[in-house]
Amino acid sequence: MLEITPRDRLIFPLDLPDWVTARKMAHSLNGHVGWFKVGLELFIAEGPSVLARLRELAPETKIFLDLKLHDIPTTVGLAMAAAARLKPDMITVHAQGGVAMMRAAVERAEKTLVLAVTVLTSLNPVVLEELTPACQASGALVAILAARAGQAGCGGLVASGQEARFLKATFPQLRLIIPGIRPAWAQVAGDDQQRTATPAQAVRAGADYLVIGRPIREARDPAEAADRISVELA
Ligand code: C5P
Repeated sequence: MLEITPRDRLIFPLDLPDWVTARKMAHSLNGHVGWFKVGLELFIAEGPSVLARLRELAPETKIFLDLKLHDIPTTVGLAMAAAARLKPDMITVHAQGGVAMMRAAVERAEKTLVLAVTVLTSLNPVVLEELTPACQASGALVAILAARAGQAGCGGLVASGQEARFLKATFPQLRLIIPGIRPAWAQVAGDDQQRTATPAQAVRAGADYLVIGRPIREARDPAEAADRISVELA
């Protein structure tokens, strides 16, 4: 198997309002990250054709379609069939939708790897305690959801750096995608991420891929910030 390079691990979310700004950013980061993530904002603003446009602009960069699907199994299965026609390399569903929903997604995903989002990295332990008192802390909830995702045949998990070590040890066959990454040198104004880790901490703990948005996007030179992270990882 080919060795994964630090750059291959970097997923840059194109969290931007339209194709004009997304194209500019994708152009500057082309060759500096392994993946572009298309999330709800850009997908809703520009529609499915944004994937083909991105592929034309950066054919070597993989595409992660982060729609975080969460509905009844039939609806998610049909939505997944439509999404699979766009041929993203990875796509997300919410593990909280349950095993039947995740299984319906996996069955219709064709070659796209289905990732299960466990607990959003923006939720802190206080909010989690309110939502799921029985689970006490996010760790317990993440463990339950990850096991369900594995049962349903998902190929990977999205979780925080704080759960990475446990998840990699328990589910070594699942790809681990970690958002909420904050390099020590990055300051994000009004940051909503709560359960964060530095790139090196996350990889040491077992992350296969890192989603890093604002620390790169808000840097004076985004390509240089991405390279700096790759060097730190190397
Ligand atoms: O690095 P930054 O906080 O800007 O990254 C934000 C991105 O991470 C968003 O695209 C968001 O959807 C994604 N994400 C997240 N937490 C999750 C899953 C994805 O923040 N659990």
